[in-house]
Amino acid sequence: MFKETFQRYISMIEQFLAQLPWDKELLNQSMYYSLIGGGKRIRPVLALASAEAVGGDPQAILSAAVSLELIHTYSLIHDDLPAMDNDDYRRGRLSNHKVYGEANAILAGDALLTYAFELLADPAVGQPEKQLRIIREVAIAAGKDGMVGGQVADVAGEGKTLNLSEIEAIHKGKTGALLTVSARLGGILAGGTELQIKALSDYAQALGLAFQIKDDILDVVGNSEILGKPAGSDLRQGKATYVSLLGLEGAEQQLKAQIQKAQSALEPFNEDATFLSELAYFIEQRQH
Ligand code: IPE
Ligand code: IPE
Ligand code: MG
Ligand code: MG
Ligand code: MG
Repeated sequence: MFKETFQRYISMIEQFLAQLPWDKELLNQSMYYSLIGGGKRIRPVLALASAEAVGGDPQAILSAAVSLELIHTYSLIHDDLPAMDNDDYRRGRLSNHKVYGEANAILAGDALLTYAFELLADPAVGQPEKQLRIIREVAIAAGKDGMVGGQVADVAGEGKTLNLSEIEAIHKGKTGALLTVSARLGGILAGGTELQIKALSDYAQALGLAFQIKDDILDVVGNSEILGKPAGSDLRQGKATYVSLLGLEGAEQQLKAQIQKAQSALEPFNEDATFLSELAYFIEQRQH
């Protein structure tokens, strides 16, 4: 059941991405290049599943859900640049800047970010009040107090030994914020109650932290082919990660604790949240 539902969401997302009006000129091609390939689409999946968990129609929030994948993809293009993590592979192919050059990669990221807000502001997205709430929340999550702020702290932490609460703060910013707003977006646009939205937030916050802890673990134990990006990147860049601070076993323990926290946040939902609960397990077990 989990696999079928996941596949149903993925098909919706891939179809929507493919039908956007991409033209043949350079900027469109480089944006599209990074969007397709081996992305897991966790953020839009989380949004669609959250909409369904509160009794909504995932199809009705699809364009807003996909906007999250555009923001995420922009963040990956910039994350791979020589000035940041300096990684040559992403999603099983050359990184954007290796194909299109650094200037075009920066600009493709910029354009993906702004295009995301164009999609979010589309009149078809929903009731203006909910739509405005979500546009603001996504802006905050992606920006200085969320993802970008986390990326700045991540770069500043290179070569330093940070303590657990400092690393946790980086992870909550660079990865947790966008995952959290993904669940909130689905819950809010699909008309969830404030109680449900709070439960989704708590779930996704723990899930987001777990997601990045697992990413740190896979950087050490994972296989570059399967990951679609270079393993060992964190060590090379001297990143402060859960593994560098706690070792593999310690990181695994933290991962388990966050997955449990995510699952128990779903208690108010009963069976409506089976998929979300299994998604947490999927993230714990993932190999890429
Ligand atoms: C990688 O994200 C960067 C992190 C925030 C950990 P994903 O693991 O979701 O990457 P894709 O989208 O599947 O390529
Ligand atoms: C990336 O974290 C977070 C964002 C892109 C916002 P990482 O640098 O750990 O992601 P990977 O490992 O390159 O995918
Ligand atoms: Mg990085
Ligand atoms: Mg990176
Ligand atoms: Mg990583």
